[in-house]
Amino acid sequence: MTKVLAIETSCDETAASVVSNKKGIYTINSNVVASQIKDHSKWGGVVPELAARKHLELIHFVISEAIEVADVNYQEIDVIASTVAPGLVGSLRIGSVAARTLCAFYSKPFLGIHHLEGHLSSILFSENPPKPPFIVLLVSGGHTELIKVGERREMERLGRSYDDAAGEAFDKVGRLLGLSYPGGPAIEKAAKEGDSFKFDLPKCKISDKKGGFLKYDFSFSGLKTAVLRLTEKINKNNVTLPIEDIAASFERVVAEVLVERSINCVIDNDLLDLVVVGGVAANNTLRKMMISEAAKKSIRVHLAPLYLCTDNAAMIGAAALSRLNMGDYESSLKLGVSARLPIDEALSLYHKIPPF
Ligand code: KG4
Ligand code: ZN
Repeated sequence: MTKVLAIETSCDETAASVVSNKKGIYTINSNVVASQIKDHSKWGGVVPELAARKHLELIHFVISEAIEVADVNYQEIDVIASTVAPGLVGSLRIGSVAARTLCAFYSKPFLGIHHLEGHLSSILFSENPPKPPFIVLLVSGGHTELIKVGERREMERLGRSYDDAAGEAFDKVGRLLGLSYPGGPAIEKAAKEGDSFKFDLPKCKISDKKGGFLKYDFSFSGLKTAVLRLTEKINKNNVTLPIEDIAASFERVVAEVLVERSINCVIDNDLLDLVVVGGVAANNTLRKMMISEAAKKSIRVHLAPLYLCTDNAAMIGAAALSRLNMGDYESSLKLGVSARLPIDEALSLYHKIPPF
């Protein structure tokens, strides 16, 4: 059995978890998430400086609780991992310094983890995780990407958002409608009471320089602007804003765009499995639509467990353990953090000379 202590502080959740892997079965021994949502909600979004300070306040308690709940001591931990990219640099630094300090103190190997590899590893806790190759739709507050995962876990980004990520669009539209932060869960709640076909909102596409449109890429800022114009028009007429109908129409269009492009991507790559992970993967309309539309094309959909869609450290632990399963991966204790790192470059985190 291999056990990892994993730490995640890339945005506004301070998280630590102990995860073990026995013969390919991944088990969560503890999963502590201290959310800072309350601290940021009055500002309508994450304030990076505030997030870093909060991580610093909480990190010690969160790690201690993860160790205590898992009922382990540091001698029983084989490896310590933390998210090192992409994310808010000040926030990433707190988790990474904590992890590397523990590694130095207890003489444990360190694994720096790519946050998106963490998200896609959340699928390892599902009942019947697929074997690569497969396509991953990663939809979070910072990213909307279609990634092809190969047999040796090599990753190739096939599509991405050119502007706002889907989660970011949920957050911005939520703010526009006067809903609470984060917008995703608030829009989902409001949408339940609304008519999703009440408003016709645009499904924005990215033009291909060679003609036509890029099939697997996304754009959500035009959709957000369309909602803004719609609300302005309604307000001008002094009519009460039909928040529920706007929320439902917006949610439907986002789900349709994500579903159509993901399914096309799986079909064009001659694959059968589609994995859906990240904060927006918690959205029930998206989950249901993805399953029903994929079934029509005989595509198997694997949804991240609901409780692991948003940021947590268990997924970081699973990413570390599956790296160890594949080979002798270890990061330098000199590895720093970075706001950006394409997923295709995740392997560089294990180079003797670190990329940053
Ligand atoms: O993965 P995550 O926790 O953090 C990032 O790595 O970005 O995702 C957070 C994002 C936020 O934008 C939030 O509004 C969105 O996920 N989200 C949702 C739902 N729950 C969280 N979006 C739509 N429906 C939800 N139920
Ligand atoms: Zn995330």
